[in-house]
Amino acid sequence: MQKRIFLRSTALAALSLVAALAHADNNTFKIGLILPMTGPFASTGKQIEAAARLYMAQNGDTVAGKKVELIVKDDTSAPDVTKRIAQELVVNDKVNVLAGFGLTPLALATAPIATQSKTPLVVMAAATSSITQASPYIVRTSFTLPQAAVGIADWAPKNGIKKVVTLVSDYGPGIDAEKYFKDRFLFNGGQVIETLRVPMRNPDFAPFLQKVRDLKPDAMFVFVPSGAGAALMKQFAERGMDKAGIKLIGTGDVTDDDILNSMGDVALGVVTSHHYSASHNSPLNKKFVEAFQKANNGLRPNFMAVGGYDGMRVIYEAAKATKGGSGDALLEAMKGQIFESPRGPMFIDAQTRDVVHNIYIRKVEKVGGQLYNQEFDTIKDVKDPGKNK
Ligand code: PHB
Repeated sequence: MQKRIFLRSTALAALSLVAALAHADNNTFKIGLILPMTGPFASTGKQIEAAARLYMAQNGDTVAGKKVELIVKDDTSAPDVTKRIAQELVVNDKVNVLAGFGLTPLALATAPIATQSKTPLVVMAAATSSITQASPYIVRTSFTLPQAAVGIADWAPKNGIKKVVTLVSDYGPGIDAEKYFKDRFLFNGGQVIETLRVPMRNPDFAPFLQKVRDLKPDAMFVFVPSGAGAALMKQFAERGMDKAGIKLIGTGDVTDDDILNSMGDVALGVVTSHHYSASHNSPLNKKFVEAFQKANNGLRPNFMAVGGYDGMRVIYEAAKATKGGSGDALLEAMKGQIFESPRGPMFIDAQTRDVVHNIYIRKVEKVGGQLYNQEFDTIKDVKDPGKNK
């Protein structure tokens, strides 16, 4: 009898503890932010975490009366780790939303977790077109490579570039960049004389660049993921490619704002197409860049930071609209959001859950002694061309 009462009271105590925890859960809105914080893609994690924290500092850490809890985890850019962390965040932490995803394979590995648990997953970095099709719970605030590649494929042939060699990282976004650049460039009357693919991790660009030199194209079109541009630029200069008259063009990943200023004069004149430049001329962007630099020892925000900042905006607004909701309701409230981003106007297409935004043509120039991607042309409201298949 004594024992039974004891058991019953401990069971009750345990239950009330669970209830108390559930109650605590009810008063928090949890964002699980999974990023590469170490390893070769750590700059992406650093930029996105900084942007997410800036968004929270500027917009407060409560929504609809709930405390916003940001749980940041390092996946070291290993897909199996990203997936495992996502599972733990959903099952143990009961996050309302998963976010981050610094590389395509990390987003693709985690997509089934979003689907099974009905947890919205906001892709703030990865940019292969097909990612949003991997789960109906995926929403993207970064960009897509087809979006970015088509802009430069239109610009180049009008500017004396007729013969091109492409050089891309050999995985999802690189393959997208190669295909969409090539198709559009051929359509515009250009010629792609060789397509080269370099390993995604620890690439040695030297033998590929030598090959490009021997082929003597008017330009080399490049996609490398954020962070890898510095090594490519260095070897491009060391081989005297620029002096040999071979121009460098690409999507804006190669002249990433995070590393652009350290590239030196070899980067001057490089023309790329992309959705964000730290020098984008708008009052909102000036404010964003200033606040970001102030909070991060002068670090210049790149396009990854903007994907993170806008991702937080999409999450916050959806949380407000659903009073701190989760699952399908939260997802629905993310779709169709339209707002001004530091990149310019931005829209989450409700049908595709993918971002629609301007693509800018930019040229690296020195402004006040620093290198910037100076936007000089705008292609308005670009949808992902990868979705028109
Ligand atoms: C990607 O893995 O999808 C990715 C990473 C870095 C970029 C673009 C795309 O700059």
